[in-house]
Amino acid sequence: MRERRAFNTEVGHVVHGDVGRELAGRIAAAVETSQAVGCDPADVAIRVSGRPGVDYQSTIALSLASEQGGDPQEIAAGIAAELDTADLLEPPEIGGPGFLNLVLRREWLEQRATALLEDARIGVAPAERPRRIAIDYSSPNVAKQMHVGHLRSSIIGDALARMLRFAGHDVTPHNHLGDWGTPFGMLIEHLVEEGWTGSASAGHTIVDLDGFYLEARKKFDADPDFALRARRRVVLLQGGDEQSTAFWRLLVDESTRHFEQVYDLLGVGLTPDDSYGESFYHPYLAGVVRDLTVQGLTESSDGAICAFPAGFFNRDGERSPLIVRKRGGGYGYAITDLATARYWIDNRGAEELLYVVGNPQAQHFAMIFTLLREAGWLSEDQRAEHIGFGSILGDDGKTIRSRAGGSVKLIDLLREAVERAAALVAERGGLAGDDAAEVARAVGIGAVKYADLSGNRGKDYTFDWDRMLAMDGNTAVYLQYANARIRSILRKAAPPAGTPVVLADPAERRLMLKILQFPQAFDRAVTERAPHRLCTYLYDTARAFSGFYESCPILTAAPDLRDSRLVLVLLTSRVLTLGLSLLGIEAPERL
Ligand code: ARG
Repeated sequence: MRERRAFNTEVGHVVHGDVGRELAGRIAAAVETSQAVGCDPADVAIRVSGRPGVDYQSTIALSLASEQGGDPQEIAAGIAAELDTADLLEPPEIGGPGFLNLVLRREWLEQRATALLEDARIGVAPAERPRRIAIDYSSPNVAKQMHVGHLRSSIIGDALARMLRFAGHDVTPHNHLGDWGTPFGMLIEHLVEEGWTGSASAGHTIVDLDGFYLEARKKFDADPDFALRARRRVVLLQGGDEQSTAFWRLLVDESTRHFEQVYDLLGVGLTPDDSYGESFYHPYLAGVVRDLTVQGLTESSDGAICAFPAGFFNRDGERSPLIVRKRGGGYGYAITDLATARYWIDNRGAEELLYVVGNPQAQHFAMIFTLLREAGWLSEDQRAEHIGFGSILGDDGKTIRSRAGGSVKLIDLLREAVERAAALVAERGGLAGDDAAEVARAVGIGAVKYADLSGNRGKDYTFDWDRMLAMDGNTAVYLQYANARIRSILRKAAPPAGTPVVLADPAERRLMLKILQFPQAFDRAVTERAPHRLCTYLYDTARAFSGFYESCPILTAAPDLRDSRLVLVLLTSRVLTLGLSLLGIEAPERL
């Protein structure tokens, strides 16, 4: 019973993939003939079944009965009698109060297996209507170390970008670096007063950006005169002052080098070309204020200019403002996001704006999106979506901290992951030198990414080295190991082209059914922006493989059976490699 459950984590979800579509189309036709009513295949609701011996279920008879009366079992029987699926399904049975229980025919499954071997997309149809998507992720702040908060954004954003691209969309990432605003006044002023020259060739490097930031902060808090000079410095910087700009460049360049290091180690596809920092939008801000004002969407309030998107109130029932221009003329975070959206829509033709940013900014984005609609800058057929996520917690249940109690530096965390993975690889033996180092990187980084992606993204999760590097359980290394084992079988023998597949053993059938569900799992992960759906699916598939591997000898089987089973092995490997790559995780040949 436990085994059964493990194979059915997809239970209850409406099937969108090609099998589901095929079944839905045919059932809809049977509804029309048997009930003499119109039926949209989308309403047929084909679900993966949790019942042993049943592959899929439809509740269409129950919905029809509740809509137009009648006995659901009778309606189901009527539909079943008209159902033209002899090539695809066993004769359908009526279950419970009127479910249509559907079982795929073995011959059909066998043919699918052979056909899937020719399909590099493993059944995933490219999007019918490809969209231009601009996705904002990572987005750390200059002159500060990246911390674990930016880790989630980088990992989830990168996985979603990969998945959306595979789905056929035109995806452009942009890294919304925090590289502008008040902290820079303080930082630059501090640099000037420390006697820096503002030229990179002067040999300055900011070894510890965080330390530098803290020094400046301390001075800012302790010395009102310094604070004043720092504020004046922001104005100078934003006005294009040469010396200030040179220092600013120094900080941005140093930070960018640091971010590059992290992206490189993390294997996240962001390059300096994808950097669109807050400073990039500065030239557009005045236009945004003007256009909002012309439309009557701004009010002055306490010397500041504010917009009040409809429907947002604070606890006292007062309207919540979006600050468009601060008192004294400065610009902030909100107006920059308005300019950002307008830039990607108008100048880059984006149809969808995605923002992978932590949950605490949900309200900020909701207000921005509302205002964009009110201003008419985001039309009916364009979409904006905040893809939020929870925090990473330390084992005390609070936000993760380093051993010294400070915030955990991302680069240190990633290096530790690789070190721990190297120990794991060494323990297993079999790999040495560069190979071992490469694999350690794939396993260590894979562990961190998978731990992040495999849970519901909206929830917090606890960072736990032992759990994320466990060889058994829903982990990257479990999948990587399963895949490496599969690759080693395929190095010994490969199925000849056109091998007919035989699904005689129940474990073979279970595995094939799982492989067939790749499009559904993928589709669901994309539409829900939920990489964990794909993780769960991959884990279930690896489990189905291990069930198959235990009960079905492969290399020692009779030649026909052996080749047939090798097809399943090959398909499993493709599913795992493709699935992991869509998550941004490597699948080494050997482990
Ligand atoms: N730099 C911001 C932070 O660290 C995140 C920026 C997110 N993107 C945006 N368009 N606001 O909190």
